[in-house]
Amino acid sequence: MQAKFITIKEALEKKQGEVYLRGWVYRSRFQKDLIFVTIRDPTGIIQLVFEQSKVSPEVFEQAKKLTMETSFEVKGKIRKESRSPQGYEVDVEYFEIVGGCDNYPISKDFSEEFLLDVRHLWLRSRKMTAMMKIRSTVFQSVRDYFISKGFYEYHSPILQSVQAEGGSSLFEVPYFGKKGVFLAQTWQLYAEPAIFALGKIFTIAPSFRAEKSKTTRHLTEYWHAEMEGAWIDFEQLQDYGEGLIKHVLKDVLDKHQEDLKILKRDTKILESSLEKPFVRMTYDEVLKLLKEKFDLDIQWGKDLRTIEEDKLSQLFDTFVIVTRYPKEVKAFYMKEDPDNPKVVLGFDCIGPESYGEIIGASEREPSLEIIKNKLEAEGEDVSQYEFYLDTRKYGSVPHSGFGMGMERLISFIIGAKTIKDTIPFPRTMVRYKP
Ligand code: 4AD
Ligand code: MG
Repeated sequence: MQAKFITIKEALEKKQGEVYLRGWVYRSRFQKDLIFVTIRDPTGIIQLVFEQSKVSPEVFEQAKKLTMETSFEVKGKIRKESRSPQGYEVDVEYFEIVGGCDNYPISKDFSEEFLLDVRHLWLRSRKMTAMMKIRSTVFQSVRDYFISKGFYEYHSPILQSVQAEGGSSLFEVPYFGKKGVFLAQTWQLYAEPAIFALGKIFTIAPSFRAEKSKTTRHLTEYWHAEMEGAWIDFEQLQDYGEGLIKHVLKDVLDKHQEDLKILKRDTKILESSLEKPFVRMTYDEVLKLLKEKFDLDIQWGKDLRTIEEDKLSQLFDTFVIVTRYPKEVKAFYMKEDPDNPKVVLGFDCIGPESYGEIIGASEREPSLEIIKNKLEAEGEDVSQYEFYLDTRKYGSVPHSGFGMGMERLISFIIGAKTIKDTIPFPRTMVRYKP
């Protein structure tokens, strides 16, 4: 068809007159001399009406055969129709099929595993489409936030020779017969050297975790927004974390009311998280609070487990920044608190509604000796870390950084039941296809 095509959204804005549309059949039904075909495109859905008396017999016969997901081009007239959910319908004059579609595989089985098997097709569903649009905004919004705060975008290698988040969750990759080559768990050890040149930097890149956990929060491949900055102290670091999340929430609420509706997300919690200051409390205060409210006994020195984070999140309608964890449960690079060396100047930012840890953060340990000792205690070969240790030798400065799981944040934003619903092709312990 030779014509000026517009999107469904543009047609709805046009409200009347001739329109040329391109899309896919979403559903269809007939009723004697009428055929109703709802079509979709990336911008929305609209109902087309084929009236036997108004189109040629060939067009009417062909329209009966329009099966789900057939792609086609159509010419018609849009008009108001209060009975249709979109408020408008298109009376078809003419159409052409572009790509036929027989026996579309998604019709009866909507089980989670099946939909993961046909993920390449399930991407077309309204829910996945809405999620992917929000995801796109979240990525854009993270970039905008950091750029607006004077950060440079910087890139670390994905193939790395060190670990930063524990050897047990490293993916080792074959590398021309060499051992000790891993996929990035974090950009961090390659980011710290760059702050001496760029000052404040950020990235959004894939991170990999060979975690043997089949939870609703863990992916083996996820997108990691990370920042690192010279002269940034522990308090400022918390402000950046809160500022970033709020910036993203505002952008999504501004641009995606329709998509949030499609995803059936109650936006109250997003709004309260945007409006209220994040709660900030120490690990010690959390222990006290959980004892008081839930009679939970947590031994000092133990990490907070999922159930404890979830209980904590139930007490607030916004994020909770938990600071000053016992140093034993945190990574070697976190700075020991000068006022209490049993704890570190690190924080986890816990999402509301049991969405768990969204950000992991710390001021960085300045002491070469402490870092070396901790690496040795973890059984690491310190010589592998020489390049990193140089950051503490040559003109070192106080600095801090954090990492935010993009899919963890998107899970909260869209109210996902599982983190798998926040990424096009999820990778988990048991899922790496298609
Ligand atoms: O807390 P983590 O392990 O911290 C780091 O990697 C630091 N080096 C970041 C930094 O300071 N530059 O991971 C950071 C965040 C977590 O808070 C969580 O949101 C996300 O990454 N994350 C995961 N997301 C999905 N699946 C997994 N398996 C994840 N593991 C961590
Ligand atoms: Mg963490």
